[in-house]
Amino acid sequence: MGMERLAVVTGGIGGLGTEICRKLAASGRRVVAADLDSHPERIEAFRSSLSEFNGKVAFEALNVADFEHCAEFAARVSDRHGPVDILVNAAGITRDASFRKMGSQQWMDVMRVNLDSVFNITRQFIDGMCERGFGRIVNISSVNGQTGQFGQTNYSAAKAGMHGFTMALAREVARKGVTVNSVSPGYCRTHMVMQVPEQVRNEIVSKIPVGRLGEPHEIARVVEFLSAEDAGYITGANVPVNGGYFMTS
Ligand code: CAA
Repeated sequence: MGMERLAVVTGGIGGLGTEICRKLAASGRRVVAADLDSHPERIEAFRSSLSEFNGKVAFEALNVADFEHCAEFAARVSDRHGPVDILVNAAGITRDASFRKMGSQQWMDVMRVNLDSVFNITRQFIDGMCERGFGRIVNISSVNGQTGQFGQTNYSAAKAGMHGFTMALAREVARKGVTVNSVSPGYCRTHMVMQVPEQVRNEIVSKIPVGRLGEPHEIARVVEFLSAEDAGYITGANVPVNGGYFMTS
């Protein structure tokens, strides 16, 4: 029996994050769900949804867009929970608008939360992982970072950037036992996707070979796989989980 790994999941109480926390806890990891603490009712809903893992799943407040706050968070996690072995970067937002209608705030908000965050938080944990000779970093990108999406120049740029980061860092830490991979979900049944206008969403679903939205637990399954003890030979990869919506060789 291996040691009990500690995972941090950013966006941990969100649509995908919650199921990622559940899957990692179900496979024997201790989990810290890191997210904004601005909506107490969502934290409560998260806690009750994962109550069966009482004591194995904790919530810690985090604003991924702020580097100093990430540093403070990392110190708090270290004190309360110990060294972090697995980091899942799942925090993300949309601010959809066609480019000609997009303001700089919509651009910057998405870049800060979806891409700067990956630097801000990964930077806190990478040294410890390298020193201990084990780490699993999984970045939640998107099919829309692979293909581009109408109305998402900001989001597509951030998500494509996330995978560039993944490949570069994967090279830097490969010899240290640390893997860095991306998962690119397609359209899943989350609050984020349900906010897409119904007609646009139906149009998209009609182009998904599997014929339905993805379920958050189907993304979590791949995160669990990539963060396993024996997944050490997969690094710098981008794993699509999109129901066949976008196929590449
Ligand atoms: N391709 C080409 N043209 C399109 C188009 C498309 N997909 N959609 C709209 N257009 C055209 C319209 O026909 C219209 O043309 P005319 O001006 O000639 O009439 C024009 O573009 C409308 O452009 P607007 O900027 O006025 O569009 P809008 O303001 O009404 O809506 C939008 C734009 C808000 C981006 C809306 O299309 C939208 O919400 N789209 C959904 C985007 C999406 O899929 N987001 C994913 C969110 S979920 C997620 O991100 C999770 C994940 O990772 C998968």
